[in-house]
Amino acid sequence: MLFATAICLLLTTSASSSSLQWHWLNNPNIKPVSPLAHPITIHVPPDTDIWRPSLSKHNFTAPYLYTVIPAAHFQSVQVTVTAPWKTLYDQGGLVVAFPDRHSPNRTRFIKAGIEFNDGAPALGVVATDVLSDWSLSPIVTTEQQTKEGDAKATILVERDGTDAWVYVLENGGRTRRALRQVTWAFNEDDAQGLAREMQVGIYGAKPTEEAGEEHAREEGIDVSFSGFALRTGLRRG
Ligand SMILES: *[C@@H]1O[C@H](CO)[C@@H](O)[C@H](O)[C@H]1NC(C)=O
Ligand SMILES: *[C@@H]1O[C@H](CO)[C@@H](O)[C@H](O)[C@H]1NC(C)=O
Repeated sequence: MLFATAICLLLTTSASSSSLQWHWLNNPNIKPVSPLAHPITIHVPPDTDIWRPSLSKHNFTAPYLYTVIPAAHFQSVQVTVTAPWKTLYDQGGLVVAFPDRHSPNRTRFIKAGIEFNDGAPALGVVATDVLSDWSLSPIVTTEQQTKEGDAKATILVERDGTDAWVYVLENGGRTRRALRQVTWAFNEDDAQGLAREMQVGIYGAKPTEEAGEEHAREEGIDVSFSGFALRTGLRRG
């Protein structure tokens, strides 16, 4: 009976995106809204990050707008992100997370988007199974810019069997370039097994405070998102 009820809820969730509940993590006093319906700008304060270089330095302090779905239903999520990136590690994009209720420092996550490094915005992906690792790829097409010259990218995280693949969409979405293959995402061989639920959403982070007289240290960054799309559904086989 319990089982039947659970299945019923799952079907409802995947059938209609309007039934998804949205939540903010680390954004007190801001009402959550669905990014599916309209563009969203997240005001990101400094000294925020999502990053785990050791179990005792688990850091999930960035504003994160997310919904929860059954992990078995996840197919893909994509978003276009831009911001006036200017300071080391300014970043924003997608986060998919597999929370560990018993031990928050063991929450697994993938974050993918734009991150400012070596004086320029780049495509950054962090995959965190036990601890975080990070990779950067260049932004190569000039179309990936706003009128103001800010770097912009459309990022896709897609399930392929037990993997999650991270792509950047280019040429107006006609082509995609692989940034990362994450083999643990939906893999029951992973030490933590298959997650039952996952969080899917958008975030921005600003690990570095502004320096210099013309900036206040508490100055943040506004990270803007459009075209958020989440595909879910029951998987065959
Ligand atoms: C998270 O990272 C930011 C940026 O490095 C830092 O300022 C902040 O103190 C960290 N918070 C925690 C809880 O680790
Ligand atoms: C988990 O991480 C926090 C920092 O975010 C730290 O204060 C705490 O000691 C960590 N707990 C464990 C069990 O490592």
